[in-house]
Amino acid sequence: MSLRPVGITGVGKAVPERVLTNADLEKMVDTSDEWIRTRSGIRERRIAEPHEASSDYAIRAANEAIAKAGVKPEEIDLIVVATVTPDMPFPSTACIVQEAIGAKRAAAFDLSAACPGWIYGLVMAQQTIASGLYNCALVIGVDLLSRLTDWEDRSTAVLFGDAAGAAILQPVSEGRGILASVLGSEGAGACHLMLPAGGSRSPATQETVANRLHYIKMNGTEVYKFAVRAMNEATQQVLAKAGLTMDQVDLFIPHQANIRIIEGAMKRMELGPERVMVNLDRYGNTSSASIGLALTEALEQGRVKDGDNLVLVSFGAGLVWGAVTLRWGR
Ligand code: ACO
Repeated sequence: MSLRPVGITGVGKAVPERVLTNADLEKMVDTSDEWIRTRSGIRERRIAEPHEASSDYAIRAANEAIAKAGVKPEEIDLIVVATVTPDMPFPSTACIVQEAIGAKRAAAFDLSAACPGWIYGLVMAQQTIASGLYNCALVIGVDLLSRLTDWEDRSTAVLFGDAAGAAILQPVSEGRGILASVLGSEGAGACHLMLPAGGSRSPATQETVANRLHYIKMNGTEVYKFAVRAMNEATQQVLAKAGLTMDQVDLFIPHQANIRIIEGAMKRMELGPERVMVNLDRYGNTSSASIGLALTEALEQGRVKDGDNLVLVSFGAGLVWGAVTLRWGR
């Protein structure tokens, strides 16, 4: 069976208006702007208002991607929402988006793969279009990690922010679109990054609330070591699969978790700042929104041209990783 080339034909983003700076955090936990900047590279992040939910941001990002792609909502066959902060456990946030944007014909589901969820979603959606099953898919990465953040835990409170990023996927011309992908998992590291309660293992009780088990628990050092390894290996593998070398990469878009992880990768791969997208200083780690948000801003800044080779790579809770090589254009 011959497979059709599939690419991104439009992207969009949505971020909260409210800015939480490092100076604001200094008033909330025992930390300093200097510590946060030097250890993570983050200066500020965006925080959603209490009455808002993930779907509010997903819908805004989706509408922008739809407009940029020039498609009608009724043309969308599939909606995938990658998130660890759905509006509620069920129904899926994807169904809430489906109704709001008027995608009357679309199948819709949520996908749980933490930060690389958007890359997982791209790859899943790509297959449905490549095979001819569908013609148009909407893939959204959205997370309001502020909802799961323990504002008394300085080791995690300083790292995360809220956002959404979205893409429309369609068939593109030969030689354009997604060239190769790599997805992987290492469940042995599940204990290093988790939300312990609120699921079937440990449903919400007064005790789980009192013990602060509905907040993110992270072993930062272990996640850091994993991130460095996963980012490096996934990038090498996805380039080899696409038959490209690092010199041929025009823009590297890594998961925006920590500037030290990104700089380590840049050094190993001999990448100068002109070939690496960084916006974590303004948004922090926005989980599954991170790559879509960074790609949208790279386009807004004129850093992506027709025919450019892009590498998108991410890692996160699971532990999981994902990378995609993409040649931009229709
Ligand atoms: N302010 C001040 N001091 C702090 C803070 C803070 N916000 N947080 C921790 N410290 C202290 C620690 O208590 C420790 O003090 P001690 O030496 O007296 O014990 C000291 O700073 C050093 O702490 P480390 O944890 O060793 O700091 P490190 O340099 O490793 O940086 C960090 C921590 C930023 C969390 C880093 O480990 C990291 O980025 N890890 C990867 C995290 C990540 O990417 N997670 C996201 C995965 S994606 C997802 O799915 C959400």
